[in-house]
Amino acid sequence: MTQATLKIPAQPFVTIETADHLSEHTGSHSLAVFVSSDQKIKASHSLSGLSESVAEVFKLTSFAAGAGELQMDFSAPVKSVDQIVLAGVGDKLMSDTAIQKLASNLISYADKQAETLSLLVDGAFEPRSLEVFILSLLNHTYRFEHFKSKPASRKLAHIKLITHDAELSTRLNYLKAVHTGQSMARDMGNLPGNHCQPMDLARYARCLAKEYPKLLKVKVIDENQIEKLGMGCFMSVTQGSDAEGQLVILEYQGGSKMSDNPVALVGKGVTFDTGGISLKPGAGMEEMKFDMCGAAAVLGTFKALCESGLPISVVGALACAENMPSGKATRPGDVVTSMSGQTVEILNTDAEGRLVLSDTLTYMKQFNPKLVIDMATLTGACVIALGHVQTGLFSTDNELAAKLIEAGHRAGDKAWRLPVEEEYQELLDSPIADMQNIGGRAAGSITAACFLSRFVDYAPWAHLDIAGTAWVSGKSRQASGRPVPLLMSFLSDIED
Ligand code: BES
Ligand code: MN
Ligand code: ZN
Repeated sequence: MTQATLKIPAQPFVTIETADHLSEHTGSHSLAVFVSSDQKIKASHSLSGLSESVAEVFKLTSFAAGAGELQMDFSAPVKSVDQIVLAGVGDKLMSDTAIQKLASNLISYADKQAETLSLLVDGAFEPRSLEVFILSLLNHTYRFEHFKSKPASRKLAHIKLITHDAELSTRLNYLKAVHTGQSMARDMGNLPGNHCQPMDLARYARCLAKEYPKLLKVKVIDENQIEKLGMGCFMSVTQGSDAEGQLVILEYQGGSKMSDNPVALVGKGVTFDTGGISLKPGAGMEEMKFDMCGAAAVLGTFKALCESGLPISVVGALACAENMPSGKATRPGDVVTSMSGQTVEILNTDAEGRLVLSDTLTYMKQFNPKLVIDMATLTGACVIALGHVQTGLFSTDNELAAKLIEAGHRAGDKAWRLPVEEEYQELLDSPIADMQNIGGRAAGSITAACFLSRFVDYAPWAHLDIAGTAWVSGKSRQASGRPVPLLMSFLSDIED
């Protein structure tokens, strides 16, 4: 029995709002002023007394204002402000990484120093950078403290964006929706394997639908039905585990009626990946609790859709299973028949993501989607190729690929395209079945994508390999909630 007791939706820890002037505050109040490397204040929004006070400060210090650097610890003569923080934006257009470092430094500063952090944002950033910065600020306020007896102390409770731009508050609502969805994806991802089994993911999806009864419907296909539907590939993964596999279907209807051609989102939800009989080595295996981050991102995107109310129709699927070795587990060399009728020789039971996804992709055909995007922590090879910066993007459709790259760029959640060409397909030839489930060491991420492509013959399709981007590894291991921002940016741009 599992005991998932996490409260959803993820509650934001910190409020954020726009304001057109600095107001009085109870509690400590810091004002962040953005400064470029030539020691110019980057602000089109003047505050009386501000430039003099900063000028005074500049006499006392030699703040280089490199991108992301902070300078603080002096008292501020500006009314109602206890402390001014100079925030360096460098001397050229900041990279997304530099923007994120700046946001991270500001939030750790405020967690120690300020209940309210006001930021003089007008004129400090390019419009796109400002949105990346705001989302990053919000994301740095995220904490996963569900299993801590005592939450860490934090001062920061309110963020205020001081601006004269009335449109920013509309954009802020969108960014809050993205942040809430992303936080939910992170919460799901951060849950360990004993607290997040396929049934738990199904339960969280049902909870979400209860919260937004007008916008969201959820249907859960249990393991019996998965078997009855002829999903031999899906079954080959889930059969080794005592936890029942679940296929969770979500339908979001933000327009007046469900479109005849919704967008389809499919996520890999392997709640723990031991590798199965092709058992993984022990070191670092704990991070395979994150192997459901694709499903978590789909669920988080639905949360963000419900919060933002985008006027479109989206259908989602979470392919949830646990990959375990047992007396019932698939053996290397076993042949199974997929729901599509194609047969698969399973040479490696650790290549399980593509197996649960293949039958799920076949299942999505009935929704007649205008396009399908799947996301999965699919291959270690993708981490070798792209590291932890960009998500791997694979598509047989140039237009869809271009739109996803552009959407990722806008959101500061980038993806890089790798090929899924015919020439790679033969690596999947099997001597006894229609295909084998691995292609060998060469081009491991590409052959995985090739495998998936064989199960989507009904709509333009793209695959996002988030193995390197869905979580941060090591001592500070935690889910990132990517690619929720990319998907929301893509979906914002789509016609129903
Ligand atoms: N979930 C893993 C992929 C993974 C590994 C993601 C490490 C992030 C970090 C996936 O199920 C897997 O095991 N893939 C194998 C495929 C291989 C057997 C062809 C891999 O990448 O080693
Ligand atoms: Mn695996
Ligand atoms: Zn896996």
